[in-house]
Amino acid sequence: MKLTLASAGESHGPALVAIVGGLPAGLELDREAIDADLRRRQEGYGRSPRQRIEQDRVEVLSGLRHGRTLGTPLALVVRNADHANWTWGMSPWPPEGEPSGKGTRRVTLPRPGHADLAGVLKYGHDDVRNALERASARHTAVHVAAGAVAKALLAAIAISVEGSVVDEAGMRAAIDEARAERDTVGGTVEVRATGVPPGLGSYAAKEDRLDARLAAALMGIQAVKGVEIGDGFALAGLRGSQAHDEIRADRRRDTNRAGGIEAGVSNGEEILVRAAMKPLPTLMKPLASVDLETGEPGQALVERSDVAAVEALAVVAEAAVAWELAGAAREKFGGDALVDFVGAHAAYVERIKW
Ligand SMILES: Cc1cc2nc3c(=O)[nH]c(=O)nc-3n(C[C@H](O)[C@H](O)[C@H](O)COP(=O)(O)O)c2cc1C
Repeated sequence: MKLTLASAGESHGPALVAIVGGLPAGLELDREAIDADLRRRQEGYGRSPRQRIEQDRVEVLSGLRHGRTLGTPLALVVRNADHANWTWGMSPWPPEGEPSGKGTRRVTLPRPGHADLAGVLKYGHDDVRNALERASARHTAVHVAAGAVAKALLAAIAISVEGSVVDEAGMRAAIDEARAERDTVGGTVEVRATGVPPGLGSYAAKEDRLDARLAAALMGIQAVKGVEIGDGFALAGLRGSQAHDEIRADRRRDTNRAGGIEAGVSNGEEILVRAAMKPLPTLMKPLASVDLETGEPGQALVERSDVAAVEALAVVAEAAVAWELAGAAREKFGGDALVDFVGAHAAYVERIKW
Protein backbone atom coordinates (compact mmCIF):
# COMPACT_ATOMS: atom_id res chain seq x y z
CA MET A 1 0.00 0.00 0.00
CA LYS A 2 1.55 3.30 -1.10
CA LEU A 3 0.71 6.79 0.13
CA THR A 4 0.51 9.24 -2.76
CA LEU A 5 0.32 13.01 -2.82
CA ALA A 6 -0.32 15.30 -5.77
CA SER A 7 -0.60 19.03 -5.22
CA ALA A 8 -1.52 21.99 -7.39
CA GLY A 9 -1.99 25.71 -6.92
CA GLU A 10 -0.29 29.05 -7.49
CA SER A 11 0.75 31.47 -4.76
CA HIS A 12 -1.91 34.06 -5.66
CA GLY A 13 -4.32 31.77 -7.51
CA PRO A 14 -7.72 30.85 -6.08
CA ALA A 15 -6.56 27.91 -3.94
CA LEU A 16 -4.03 25.20 -3.20
CA VAL A 17 -5.13 21.63 -3.67
CA ALA A 18 -3.77 18.25 -2.59
CA ILE A 19 -5.04 14.80 -3.37
CA VAL A 20 -3.86 12.16 -0.91
CA GLY A 21 -4.17 8.51 -1.88
CA GLY A 22 -3.45 5.30 0.03
CA LEU A 23 -4.91 6.16 3.43
CA PRO A 24 -6.65 3.37 5.31
CA ALA A 25 -10.38 3.71 5.99
CA GLY A 26 -11.48 4.62 9.50
CA LEU A 27 -8.76 7.13 10.40
CA GLU A 28 -10.27 9.93 12.45
CA LEU A 29 -9.11 13.40 11.41
CA ASP A 30 -9.33 16.46 13.63
CA ARG A 31 -10.01 19.59 11.63
CA GLU A 32 -8.68 21.76 14.47
CA ALA A 33 -5.36 19.87 14.54
CA ILE A 34 -4.87 20.37 10.79
CA ASP A 35 -5.76 24.08 11.06
CA ALA A 36 -3.41 24.45 14.04
CA ASP A 37 -0.50 23.23 11.89
CA LEU A 38 -1.53 25.63 9.12
CA ARG A 39 -1.46 28.46 11.67
CA ARG A 40 1.96 27.38 12.96
CA ARG A 41 3.29 27.55 9.38
CA GLN A 42 2.01 31.09 9.06
CA GLU A 43 3.15 32.45 12.40
CA GLY A 44 6.95 32.35 12.23
CA TYR A 45 9.13 35.26 13.21
CA GLY A 46 10.23 37.35 10.22
CA ARG A 47 7.34 36.48 7.94
CA SER A 48 5.72 38.96 5.56
CA PRO A 49 2.42 40.86 6.03
CA ARG A 50 0.88 38.34 3.59
CA GLN A 51 0.38 36.12 6.62
CA ARG A 52 -2.03 38.67 8.07
CA ILE A 53 -4.16 38.43 4.95
CA GLU A 54 -4.26 34.65 4.93
CA GLN A 55 -6.18 32.73 7.60
CA ASP A 56 -5.40 29.27 6.31
CA ARG A 57 -8.03 26.65 6.96
CA VAL A 58 -8.41 23.24 5.43
CA GLU A 59 -11.43 22.24 3.40
CA VAL A 60 -12.06 18.62 2.51
CA LEU A 61 -13.84 17.83 -0.74
CA SER A 62 -13.77 14.06 -0.68
CA GLY A 63 -12.50 10.94 1.02
CA LEU A 64 -13.85 11.86 4.46
CA ARG A 65 -17.26 11.31 5.99
CA HIS A 66 -18.23 12.50 9.44
CA GLY A 67 -14.56 12.98 10.32
CA ARG A 68 -13.35 9.52 9.28
CA THR A 69 -11.44 8.55 6.14
CA LEU A 70 -13.25 6.37 3.64
CA GLY A 71 -10.16 4.68 2.19
CA THR A 72 -10.67 6.70 -0.99
CA PRO A 73 -8.73 9.71 -2.30
CA LEU A 74 -8.75 12.55 0.22
CA ALA A 75 -9.03 15.94 -1.50
CA LEU A 76 -7.73 18.87 0.55
CA VAL A 77 -8.10 22.55 -0.31
CA VAL A 78 -6.54 25.66 1.27
CA ARG A 79 -7.89 28.86 -0.26
CA ASN A 80 -5.75 31.93 -0.92
CA ALA A 81 -7.58 34.88 0.66
CA ASP A 82 -5.10 37.19 -1.10
CA HIS A 83 -6.50 36.03 -4.45
CA ALA A 84 -9.22 38.67 -3.98
CA ASN A 85 -6.49 41.24 -4.79
CA TRP A 86 -5.30 39.30 -7.83
CA THR A 87 -8.51 38.25 -9.58
CA TRP A 88 -7.52 39.96 -12.84
CA GLY A 89 -3.78 39.30 -12.55
CA MET A 90 -4.13 35.60 -11.71
CA SER A 91 -7.35 34.82 -13.54
CA PRO A 92 -7.12 31.24 -14.85
CA TRP A 93 -9.14 32.30 -17.91
CA PRO A 94 -8.49 35.34 -20.09
CA PRO A 95 -9.42 38.19 -17.74
CA GLU A 96 -12.45 40.32 -18.46
CA GLY A 97 -12.60 44.10 -18.09
CA GLU A 98 -9.81 46.61 -17.48
CA PRO A 99 -6.68 45.44 -15.62
CA SER A 100 -7.11 46.00 -11.90
CA GLY A 101 -5.54 44.88 -8.65
CA LYS A 102 -2.15 43.17 -8.43
CA GLY A 103 -0.21 41.15 -10.99
CA THR A 104 -1.30 43.23 -13.98
CA ARG A 105 2.22 44.21 -15.08
CA ARG A 106 4.67 41.81 -16.62
CA VAL A 107 7.66 40.92 -14.43
CA THR A 108 10.90 40.93 -16.45
CA LEU A 109 13.60 41.30 -13.77
CA PRO A 110 14.47 37.81 -12.41
CA ARG A 111 15.65 37.47 -8.80
CA PRO A 112 18.98 35.70 -8.25
CA GLY A 113 18.30 32.63 -6.12
CA HIS A 114 14.70 32.17 -7.21
CA ALA A 115 13.04 30.17 -9.99
CA ASP A 116 12.62 33.29 -12.13
CA LEU A 117 15.38 33.07 -14.75
CA ALA A 118 15.58 29.31 -15.15
CA GLY A 119 11.78 29.11 -15.05
CA VAL A 120 11.12 31.52 -17.92
CA LEU A 121 13.89 29.99 -20.04
CA LYS A 122 12.74 26.44 -19.41
CA TYR A 123 9.03 26.98 -20.05
CA GLY A 124 9.27 29.76 -22.64
CA HIS A 125 7.40 32.34 -20.54
CA ASP A 126 7.58 36.06 -21.24
CA ASP A 127 6.47 36.94 -17.70
CA VAL A 128 8.52 35.85 -14.69
CA ARG A 129 5.27 35.62 -12.71
CA ASN A 130 4.35 32.50 -14.70
CA ALA A 131 7.34 30.77 -13.08
CA LEU A 132 7.42 32.29 -9.61
CA GLU A 133 3.77 31.68 -8.75
CA ARG A 134 4.18 27.92 -8.54
CA ALA A 135 7.82 27.98 -7.42
CA SER A 136 6.75 30.02 -4.38
CA ALA A 137 6.61 28.16 -1.09
CA ARG A 138 3.00 29.20 -0.61
CA HIS A 139 1.94 25.73 -1.69
CA THR A 140 3.72 24.25 1.30
CA ALA A 141 0.46 25.13 3.09
CA VAL A 142 -1.34 22.22 1.52
CA HIS A 143 1.66 19.95 2.16
CA VAL A 144 1.41 20.90 5.82
CA ALA A 145 -2.27 19.90 5.74
CA ALA A 146 -1.28 16.53 4.21
CA GLY A 147 1.46 16.23 6.84
CA ALA A 148 -1.13 16.73 9.57
CA VAL A 149 -3.08 13.81 8.10
CA ALA A 150 0.13 11.75 8.07
CA LYS A 151 0.72 12.63 11.73
CA ALA A 152 -2.79 11.39 12.59
CA LEU A 153 -1.98 8.09 10.89
CA LEU A 154 1.36 7.82 12.70
CA ALA A 155 -0.29 8.62 16.03
CA ALA A 156 -2.38 5.46 15.58
CA ILE A 157 0.87 3.47 15.91
CA ALA A 158 2.32 5.75 18.62
CA ILE A 159 4.78 7.64 16.41
CA SER A 160 5.09 11.39 16.92
CA VAL A 161 7.01 13.93 14.86
CA GLU A 162 8.14 17.39 15.89
CA GLY A 163 10.07 20.08 14.07
CA SER A 164 11.92 23.00 15.65
CA VAL A 165 14.43 25.73 14.86
CA VAL A 166 18.04 25.15 15.87
CA ASP A 167 19.16 28.16 17.94
CA GLU A 168 15.83 30.03 17.96
CA ALA A 169 17.08 33.00 19.98
CA GLY A 170 20.14 33.59 17.80
CA MET A 171 17.99 33.29 14.70
CA ARG A 172 15.53 35.95 15.88
CA ALA A 173 18.35 38.37 16.58
CA ALA A 174 19.74 37.73 13.09
CA ILE A 175 16.30 38.39 11.60
CA ASP A 176 15.99 41.74 13.39
CA GLU A 177 19.40 42.82 12.09
CA ALA A 178 18.68 41.66 8.56
CA ARG A 179 15.32 43.41 8.48
CA ALA A 180 16.93 46.69 9.52
CA GLU A 181 19.37 46.31 6.63
CA ARG A 182 16.60 45.25 4.19
CA ASP A 183 18.30 41.88 3.85
CA THR A 184 17.22 38.27 4.47
CA VAL A 185 18.52 35.30 6.44
CA GLY A 186 18.29 31.52 6.46
CA GLY A 187 18.84 29.06 9.28
CA THR A 188 18.69 25.44 10.36
CA VAL A 189 15.77 23.32 11.51
CA GLU A 190 15.60 19.85 12.97
CA VAL A 191 12.88 17.24 13.06
CA ARG A 192 12.66 14.45 15.61
CA ALA A 193 10.41 11.42 15.36
CA THR A 194 9.85 9.19 18.37
CA GLY A 195 8.18 5.80 18.61
CA VAL A 196 9.48 4.64 15.22
CA PRO A 197 10.08 0.87 15.45
CA PRO A 198 13.15 -0.71 13.86
CA GLY A 199 12.50 -1.76 10.28
CA LEU A 200 10.99 1.19 8.37
CA GLY A 201 12.75 1.64 5.05
CA SER A 202 15.08 -0.89 3.44
CA TYR A 203 18.68 -1.43 2.42
CA ALA A 204 17.56 -3.57 -0.51
CA ALA A 205 17.10 -0.72 -3.01
CA LYS A 206 18.33 2.84 -2.88
CA GLU A 207 14.88 4.36 -3.42
CA ASP A 208 13.56 2.48 -0.38
CA ARG A 209 16.26 3.71 1.99
CA LEU A 210 14.61 5.77 4.71
CA ASP A 211 17.54 8.19 4.90
CA ALA A 212 17.36 8.78 1.13
CA ARG A 213 13.62 9.31 1.28
CA LEU A 214 13.87 11.79 4.14
CA ALA A 215 16.70 13.66 2.44
CA ALA A 216 14.73 13.91 -0.80
CA ALA A 217 11.60 15.04 1.05
CA LEU A 218 13.50 17.78 2.90
CA MET A 219 15.45 18.83 -0.17
CA GLY A 220 12.11 19.04 -1.96
CA ILE A 221 11.18 22.02 0.20
CA GLN A 222 11.99 25.44 -1.23
CA ALA A 223 15.26 27.01 -0.06
CA VAL A 224 16.58 23.85 1.65
CA LYS A 225 20.20 23.43 0.54
CA GLY A 226 21.57 20.87 2.96
CA VAL A 227 20.25 17.86 4.87
CA GLU A 228 21.92 15.73 7.50
CA ILE A 229 20.81 12.58 9.27
CA GLY A 230 21.97 12.36 12.88
CA ASP A 231 25.48 13.77 13.26
CA GLY A 232 25.75 13.86 9.45
CA PHE A 233 28.66 15.98 8.29
CA ALA A 234 30.42 15.85 11.67
CA LEU A 235 30.75 12.06 11.33
CA ALA A 236 33.14 12.53 8.43
CA GLY A 237 35.75 13.88 10.84
CA LEU A 238 35.47 11.13 13.47
CA ARG A 239 36.99 7.70 13.94
CA GLY A 240 34.68 4.71 13.62
CA SER A 241 35.11 4.00 17.32
CA GLN A 242 33.68 7.46 18.09
CA ALA A 243 31.06 7.60 15.38
CA HIS A 244 28.88 4.51 15.87
CA ASP A 245 26.26 3.81 18.50
CA GLU A 246 27.13 0.73 20.54
CA ILE A 247 24.38 -1.84 21.06
CA ARG A 248 23.35 -2.74 24.63
CA ALA A 249 22.01 -6.11 25.70
CA ASP A 250 18.46 -4.74 25.46
CA ARG A 251 19.24 -3.75 21.82
CA ARG A 252 18.99 -0.05 22.58
CA ARG A 253 21.78 2.54 22.35
CA ASP A 254 23.24 5.09 24.75
CA THR A 255 24.14 7.42 21.89
CA ASN A 256 22.29 8.28 18.68
CA ARG A 257 24.84 9.66 16.25
CA ALA A 258 23.17 7.74 13.43
CA GLY A 259 19.96 9.72 13.92
CA GLY A 260 17.90 6.54 14.26
CA ILE A 261 18.73 5.13 10.83
CA GLU A 262 21.35 2.53 9.87
CA ALA A 263 21.66 1.12 6.34
CA GLY A 264 18.58 3.05 5.28
CA VAL A 265 16.44 1.33 7.91
CA SER A 266 15.08 2.80 11.15
CA ASN A 267 16.87 1.19 14.11
CA GLY A 268 14.37 2.00 16.85
CA GLU A 269 16.12 5.09 18.19
CA GLU A 270 14.76 8.59 17.74
CA ILE A 271 14.88 9.73 14.11
CA LEU A 272 16.80 13.01 13.91
CA VAL A 273 17.23 15.00 10.70
CA ARG A 274 18.33 18.57 10.06
CA ALA A 275 17.78 20.86 7.11
CA ALA A 276 19.72 24.03 6.26
CA MET A 277 17.78 26.87 4.64
CA LYS A 278 19.50 29.48 2.52
CA PRO A 279 18.64 33.19 2.94
CA LEU A 280 15.44 34.02 1.04
CA PRO A 281 16.04 35.41 -2.45
CA THR A 282 13.59 38.34 -2.51
CA LEU A 283 15.48 41.33 -1.14
CA MET A 284 14.07 44.77 -0.37
CA LYS A 285 17.55 46.01 -1.40
CA PRO A 286 17.63 44.07 -4.67
CA LEU A 287 20.59 42.35 -6.30
CA ALA A 288 21.82 42.95 -9.83
CA SER A 289 19.80 41.35 -12.59
CA VAL A 290 18.95 41.78 -16.25
CA ASP A 291 15.75 43.09 -17.80
CA LEU A 292 14.74 40.16 -19.98
CA GLU A 293 12.70 42.44 -22.25
CA THR A 294 15.38 45.04 -23.01
CA GLY A 295 18.57 43.11 -22.23
CA GLU A 296 19.69 46.05 -20.08
CA PRO A 297 21.19 45.60 -16.61
CA GLY A 298 18.67 46.20 -13.86
CA GLN A 299 17.71 45.39 -10.30
CA ALA A 300 15.79 42.26 -9.38
CA LEU A 301 12.07 42.23 -8.70
CA VAL A 302 11.05 43.50 -5.28
CA GLU A 303 7.78 42.20 -3.92
CA ARG A 304 6.28 41.60 -0.52
CA SER A 305 8.40 38.91 1.08
CA ASP A 306 9.54 37.26 4.28
CA VAL A 307 12.81 38.32 5.93
CA ALA A 308 13.12 34.71 7.08
CA ALA A 309 10.94 31.63 7.03
CA VAL A 310 12.94 29.33 9.27
CA GLU A 311 10.16 28.85 11.82
CA ALA A 312 7.78 28.10 8.98
CA LEU A 313 10.33 25.67 7.56
CA ALA A 314 10.35 23.79 10.88
CA VAL A 315 6.62 23.14 10.41
CA VAL A 316 6.94 22.29 6.71
CA ALA A 317 9.89 19.97 7.42
CA GLU A 318 7.91 18.29 10.22
CA ALA A 319 5.11 17.66 7.71
CA ALA A 320 7.57 16.30 5.12
CA VAL A 321 9.18 13.90 7.60
CA ALA A 322 5.75 12.79 8.87
CA TRP A 323 4.68 12.19 5.29
CA GLU A 324 7.71 9.99 4.51
CA LEU A 325 7.44 8.02 7.74
CA ALA A 326 3.72 7.49 7.18
CA GLY A 327 4.52 6.30 3.64
CA ALA A 328 7.16 3.87 4.91
CA ALA A 329 4.73 2.65 7.60
CA ARG A 330 1.98 2.11 5.02
CA GLU A 331 4.39 0.04 2.94
CA LYS A 332 5.38 -2.05 5.95
CA PHE A 333 2.02 -2.53 7.66
CA GLY A 334 -0.51 -2.14 4.81
CA GLY A 335 -4.18 -2.62 5.54
CA ASP A 336 -7.32 -1.24 3.91
CA ALA A 337 -8.90 -0.48 7.29
CA LEU A 338 -7.10 1.34 10.10
CA VAL A 339 -7.59 -1.66 12.40
CA ASP A 340 -5.66 -3.84 9.93
CA PHE A 341 -2.82 -1.30 9.82
CA VAL A 342 -2.68 -0.99 13.61
CA GLY A 343 -3.01 -4.76 14.02
CA ALA A 344 -0.10 -5.44 11.65
CA HIS A 345 2.06 -2.96 13.55
CA ALA A 346 1.14 -4.61 16.89
CA ALA A 347 1.93 -8.08 15.53
CA TYR A 348 5.27 -6.86 14.22
CA VAL A 349 6.44 -5.20 17.43
CA GLU A 350 5.34 -8.34 19.26
CA ARG A 351 7.42 -10.50 16.89
CA ILE A 352 10.54 -8.46 17.38
CA LYS A 353 9.73 -7.95 21.09
CA TRP A 354 10.20 -4.19 20.86
C1 LIG B 1 8.01 28.42 4.22
C2 LIG B 1 8.81 29.13 3.18
C3 LIG B 1 8.57 30.48 2.92
C4 LIG B 1 9.31 31.16 1.96
N1 LIG B 1 9.06 32.49 1.76
C5 LIG B 1 9.81 33.16 0.86
C6 LIG B 1 9.62 34.56 0.68
O1 LIG B 1 8.76 35.21 1.29
N2 LIG B 1 10.41 35.19 -0.22
C7 LIG B 1 11.37 34.55 -0.95
O2 LIG B 1 12.06 35.17 -1.74
N3 LIG B 1 11.57 33.22 -0.80
C8 LIG B 1 10.80 32.52 0.08
N4 LIG B 1 11.02 31.17 0.24
C9 LIG B 1 12.08 30.51 -0.55
C10 LIG B 1 11.77 30.40 -2.04
O3 LIG B 1 10.50 29.82 -2.26
C11 LIG B 1 12.87 29.59 -2.73
O4 LIG B 1 14.10 30.10 -2.39
C12 LIG B 1 12.70 29.62 -4.23
O5 LIG B 1 11.50 28.94 -4.58
C13 LIG B 1 13.87 29.01 -5.02
O6 LIG B 1 14.04 27.67 -4.70
P1 LIG B 1 15.39 27.13 -4.02
O7 LIG B 1 15.75 28.11 -2.98
O8 LIG B 1 15.02 25.78 -3.48
O9 LIG B 1 16.45 27.06 -5.06
C14 LIG B 1 10.30 30.47 1.21
C15 LIG B 1 10.55 29.12 1.46
C16 LIG B 1 9.82 28.44 2.45
C17 LIG B 1 10.10 27.00 2.72
